[in-house]
Amino acid sequence: MHPSDAPKVQSRGTLTTSNGNPVDHNQTSQSAGEAGPLLLQDFHLIDKLAHFDRERIPERVVHAKGAGAHGYFEVTHDLSHLTCAKFLSKVGKRTPVFTRFSTVGGEMGSADTARDPRGFAVKFYTEEGNWDMVGNNTPIFFIRDPSKFPDFIHTQKRNPQTHLRDPDMFWDFLSLVPESIHQVTILFSDRGTPDGYRHMHGYSSHTLTLVSEDGSYRYVKWHFRTDQGVKNFTAEEADKIAGVDPDYATSDLFKAIERGEYPSWSVYVQIIEPEQALRYRFNPFDVTKTLSQKDFPLHPVGKMVLNRNPENYFAEVEQAAFSPSHMVPGIAPSPDRMLQGRLFSYPDTHRHRLGPNYTQIPVNRAINAKTVNHQRDGSMAVNGNGGSAPNYEPNSVGGPYQTNIPAHTHTNLTLRGQVGRHTYELSDLDFVQAGDLYRLMDKDAKSRLISNIVGHLKNAKPFIQKRQVAHFKRADAEYGRRVEEGLRAAGSKI
Ligand code: HEM
Repeated sequence: MHPSDAPKVQSRGTLTTSNGNPVDHNQTSQSAGEAGPLLLQDFHLIDKLAHFDRERIPERVVHAKGAGAHGYFEVTHDLSHLTCAKFLSKVGKRTPVFTRFSTVGGEMGSADTARDPRGFAVKFYTEEGNWDMVGNNTPIFFIRDPSKFPDFIHTQKRNPQTHLRDPDMFWDFLSLVPESIHQVTILFSDRGTPDGYRHMHGYSSHTLTLVSEDGSYRYVKWHFRTDQGVKNFTAEEADKIAGVDPDYATSDLFKAIERGEYPSWSVYVQIIEPEQALRYRFNPFDVTKTLSQKDFPLHPVGKMVLNRNPENYFAEVEQAAFSPSHMVPGIAPSPDRMLQGRLFSYPDTHRHRLGPNYTQIPVNRAINAKTVNHQRDGSMAVNGNGGSAPNYEPNSVGGPYQTNIPAHTHTNLTLRGQVGRHTYELSDLDFVQAGDLYRLMDKDAKSRLISNIVGHLKNAKPFIQKRQVAHFKRADAEYGRRVEEGLRAAGSKI
């Protein structure tokens, strides 16, 4: 390119070191003589190399590959009778959000079209601090006790010896944990390979709680329904795109927003009265099951619109730290065991991944609330560290004070019983929804499901195949028989 062809750009001023010192030369290091070694006094060189050496932070242990965007949430229907959360207090009220979508099992550089659930995490910057809705594009999950999560994830990642994805590990675990059958059916259906992030729904999956000013409460499940319509890839399409455009979903989201095509989601809740929860035909806090929309219809709440791309991927997307335990008054957890485990795990991983002051990073800051407490120090305390204000309580120098508002302490759960490891016993009920889902699919969708399962399960050992086929049969006899026949046709000796 001739120099005169170069695009005209606005000057960004003088290049400086990280310390703000003007840099005299950025492309030649200081040396002792023309042919001699380099000098330790070259602060700019050392500053540049040392910072580069530390550019990578630990990637997320799950959901490492993702894309995000800023936007807003607007209340369209009154929910103020159900919750004292101020951001839900009146129709028309807008709250800024940052949303990150992700795949789960793959590393940071893995393909966006992999067969996997998709993460769907939304940070609401409310005037009472941030609320994070950390869900997936599936209304349910594979397991229902957090103690199984690290083992489950190990089986979806690489074999410790071969460093390869391992169908034996994958199916060995799932076939020994049959409560996973419902999510396995979703994963191998068309919904396992969504067409980007704009064309999928999002779910809290867990049952959460809404608490009103008077302390009364209801359980809710959150649903974010895409206004772009659901679109999925076939397995063949997904595989092909993984080869030619592995960042497909990241690019699709960014470019749509650049074009001014702002993706949006209509937000609903399913509402469950506490007495209904007690009497329901299964435990409504079991995250392997959906709650029928006939029993619990969707109530509209609002709309989420994503209309601004991040300015800097690392600063905003990579450093984003979502947690189900980031809650505002009026939104509370439920006894869902998986949720309870997650309440601990996320801030713990943030402290490891980003440091103890992760909430001071701009994308994580509670930008619409004033953060005032007695926490001090730690690495990267960059928000003034409380200045000269007291760092202890009680104190005689003017607070800050606790609210003492009963609705802020959700204490309505009355419990009786003994401490113990109360196992969820497996029952026929755990297979009903997987069977229903299979029966709901049309002929072609069923065939794609079977072909997707066979294509993966055929790589596992026959005894594992056999065990998993028994679970498919328990969900639906035809479903299991067709997987079995497919495996045999693919050469399996089961
Ligand atoms: C990310 C743990 C279940 C959705 C993560 C991360 C951890 C984790 C450690 C990485 C967070 C980070 O580095 O910022 C767990 C544990 C689970 C569990 C221990 C079960 C006990 C679930 C379930 C869902 C879910 C059931 C969905 C309903 C997500 C999402 C992210 C994530 C969306 C990515 C958040 C982001 O975009 O930064 N999980 N997880 N997880 N998890 Fe889970």
